[in-house]
Amino acid sequence: MGIIERIDAPKSKNAPRTKTGHVKVGALQKGKAGATKKVTKLPLNSILKMDCVEAMASLPDESVDMIFADPPYNLQLGGDLYRPEGGQVDAVDDEWDHFDSFAAYDAFTNAWLKEARRILKPNGSLWVIGSYHNIFRVGASLQDLGYWILNDIIWRKANPMPNFKGTRFTNAHETLIWASKSEKAKYTFNYRAMKNLNDELQMRSDWVMPICGGQERLKRNGVKAHPTQKPEALLYRVMLATTNPGDVVLDPFFGTGTTGAVAKRLGRDWIGCEKEDSYCEVAEERIEAALPLDESSLKTMQSPKQKPRVAFGTLVETGYLKVGAELCSKNRKFKAKVRADGSLVWEGQEGSIHKIGATVQDAPSCNGWTYWYYKDGKDLKVIDNLRQTYLLATEP
Ligand SMILES: C[S@@+](CC[C@H](N)C(=O)[O-])C[C@H]1O[C@@H](n2cnc3c(N)ncnc32)[C@H](O)[C@@H]1O
Repeated sequence: MGIIERIDAPKSKNAPRTKTGHVKVGALQKGKAGATKKVTKLPLNSILKMDCVEAMASLPDESVDMIFADPPYNLQLGGDLYRPEGGQVDAVDDEWDHFDSFAAYDAFTNAWLKEARRILKPNGSLWVIGSYHNIFRVGASLQDLGYWILNDIIWRKANPMPNFKGTRFTNAHETLIWASKSEKAKYTFNYRAMKNLNDELQMRSDWVMPICGGQERLKRNGVKAHPTQKPEALLYRVMLATTNPGDVVLDPFFGTGTTGAVAKRLGRDWIGCEKEDSYCEVAEERIEAALPLDESSLKTMQSPKQKPRVAFGTLVETGYLKVGAELCSKNRKFKAKVRADGSLVWEGQEGSIHKIGATVQDAPSCNGWTYWYYKDGKDLKVIDNLRQTYLLATEP
C-alpha cells in the first residue's frame, strides 16, 4: 500500500517518503487544463491524499463496488463546550468541518455524491453515515441525484457522550443511509450472513454498538489522532452485508482508515481519499499493523440473568474470535470452523453455533454457548467466557 498525491511531474528516484518510510507513489498527474488525468488501472489499497472530488474524478466510470462515506458533519459549533466540572468537551471543531452556509455544504455534498455515482458500478451500493446536523441534507441530495434508498440504519451508541448542558436529549445515535444506484439495481445483500451474525434472527435496522474507545482508539502523543474515528465493528457489518471478498470499497473521507483496516481484514480491496497529511499517515500505519484487543477494562463479572444479549457474530465482528478459528466440543471429538458471518462449518454442514452443536450430537437442540470451546494456549475455554469478556469491555 502507499499514499498517492496529485503531482505535476512523474515520480522521480528521490520520491518523498512518508513518516512510516513508504514511498509516496505519484500516480495521479495533472492534464493540460489542470484537471487530474483519469487512470486506467485502479490505485487499489492506496490512500489518495487530495480532495475527494478531484480524486474520484481521476477514476474510471463504473469501477468500484461499494462506497462508504463519513463526510464532514457541518456541526456549526458556536464556541467551546465545557463539562459541568469544567473540563473542555472534545468536540469536532476542525477546519475540515467548517462550511460558510447550508448552501455551501449542499454544493459540496452534491459534488462528491455525483462523482461517487459515476464511479460506482451499476449494481454497486453507497453508504453514508451522518448525524442530525447533515444526514437529512445528504439524504435529499442523493435522492435528487437518482440514488435509491434501501434502508436507513440507526447506529445506537451503547456508550454515548452525555448532553453536558442538560438542555436536550442525549444524542445517542447516528444514521447510516444505504442506497443503490437505481431502483432496479441488483445490489449485494448477504441476507444469510447477517442472520448468522445475529444468532439466527433477521438482522434489524437498529444496531447497538459502542463508540470507538480503548485500544482501538488511535492516539498520537497521547491525544486522539482523529475526533470522529468510527468503530471497526460498524464497518465490519456494513462490508459483510453488502460486499463480497475481492470487491473494491472506496471511502472518500478516509480519516484514520477504518474502512481500509476492515476491508483488509475481510479480504476486500480498498481506496481511500483524505486531504489531511497527518490522518493519511495514521491510516497508513494502522492498516499495516494488527489491532490489539481491549481487555483492560475488565471489572466485575455479571450474573447470567443480568447479561444483555450478545450475538455470536458480534464476537467475530469485533475480532474476539478470529475468522477461521477452530471450535471443538469439550472432549475434542467434534471440531468446527468459524466463518466470517459467525456461522460454523462442520463436515460440509453449516449453521449457527446452536444448530451445528445439535447436529454433531444428533440432538434436537443445543446451547452453542456452553457446548463449544476455543483454544487459549494449551487450554480449552468455553466460548461463553468470550461473551463475558466482550460485555465487560463494552460496558457503558
Ligand atoms: C468524519 S471524518 C471520517 C472519519 C473516518 N470515518 C474514521 O473512521 O477515521 C471526515 C474526514 O474527511 C476528511 N475530508 C473532509 N473534506 C474532505 C475532502 N473534500 N476530501 C477528502 N477528505 C476530506 C477530513 O479530513 C476527515 O478526516
